[in-house]
Amino acid sequence: MSSPVIASAFAKYFDLEHRFGAFNYHPLPVVLERGEGVYVWDVEGRRYLDFLAAYSAVNQGHCHPRIIRRLVDQAQKLTLTSRAFHHNLLGLYEKYLCELLGYERLLPMNTGVEACETAVKLARHWGYRVKGVPENKAAVVFAEGNFWGRSIAAISASSDPLSYTDFGPYVPEFYKIPYDDPEALENILRENPHIVAFMCEPIQGEAGVILPETGYLKAVREICSRYKVLWIADEVQTGLGRTGKLLACDHEDVKPDILCLGKALSGGVMPVSAVLSSSEVMLTLKPGEHGSTFGGNPLACAVAMEAVQVVVDENLSANAEARGRELREALVRIDSSRISAVRGKGLMNALVIRPKGGITAWEVCLKMMELGLLAKPTHHHTIRLTPPLCITRAQVEEAAHIIRTALLSLDAV
Ligand SMILES: Cc1ncc(COP(=O)(O)O)c(C=O)c1O
Repeated sequence: MSSPVIASAFAKYFDLEHRFGAFNYHPLPVVLERGEGVYVWDVEGRRYLDFLAAYSAVNQGHCHPRIIRRLVDQAQKLTLTSRAFHHNLLGLYEKYLCELLGYERLLPMNTGVEACETAVKLARHWGYRVKGVPENKAAVVFAEGNFWGRSIAAISASSDPLSYTDFGPYVPEFYKIPYDDPEALENILRENPHIVAFMCEPIQGEAGVILPETGYLKAVREICSRYKVLWIADEVQTGLGRTGKLLACDHEDVKPDILCLGKALSGGVMPVSAVLSSSEVMLTLKPGEHGSTFGGNPLACAVAMEAVQVVVDENLSANAEARGRELREALVRIDSSRISAVRGKGLMNALVIRPKGGITAWEVCLKMMELGLLAKPTHHHTIRLTPPLCITRAQVEEAAHIIRTALLSLDAV
């Protein structure tokens, strides 16, 4: 569906990837080279509204001047020491985030999947050393539809055949229960005393922006506490303003035992993730039992502090709440039979497409790309709409206009 002009300009880039890359992604046919705020530009200078924001990693907007300045300043001083030595920023960073989010301790990692993996390891350790679970019996429960990455542990927890098929054998003692089902959680915890943790996203992102009923998180909190099971909240995608609050768990005023953050923790400039928890959980780890060469490096600490402070200083959570509401209101006003649902919270939104006449969510995304907006389907029919949180009201209107034009032009096909 992309025009011949676009296709020929990008051909040399596609060709290189085709010849030398692995085919583990299916990107939109666009080649980007610059970003600023909500916009990105392709190699031919065409401008697009970025409605993916690198899967919510660029909450603060592309190349935020404060974050880039901090990155460059720190890069000229000290970037990596490993954890073999102390450096001057790690403690400051740990204190900053613990105090902001109300936790006792932070463990720094790099990617989201590492944060989640660390949380599961911590829970198992706590299970053996505090809860008294017999050796090698610790079990962890996950919600169906979860997504926390591509490691062997993450795919062992996955209910998506595309993620796990032909990658086995899988990690044992991982159990899956339906999402948004407190009764299922209570049932499995009652049956198995060796369960150490339940991990879930407060809103499921990759599954297609699935919002649980109000009260689910409160119920999870209460059930986990009652069974002495750690609740791990994977806020790698929902965290840091995305849903209209600093944390999505704040919507129900609940605090998980272990919190995983990533993505926007660095404003999208480098991989930075973190696990936050209590002393009781975190101090089960002794030197040598867990770590990462890059985790907690000076560059990451400097960038993460600035990136989070930008979210706070620029009231990005409140902006996400207001702009998200406007976006959903504009989308439901679009009179197109192709829309089967609009849902979301803050700026974590989904537009569900009713496929017909050979037109699916993919074709809608191609059409929107032609018109200057980038978004990507997830799970066949759902288009995730997650722009940077610095988006203005005018830019929301611009986006809604493009989405409307794309849908109506396809209706005319
Ligand atoms: C909720 C959630 N957790 C974890 C991850 C994994 O993060 P990363 O790709 O940085 O490893 C993702 C990535 O999309 C995610 O959405």
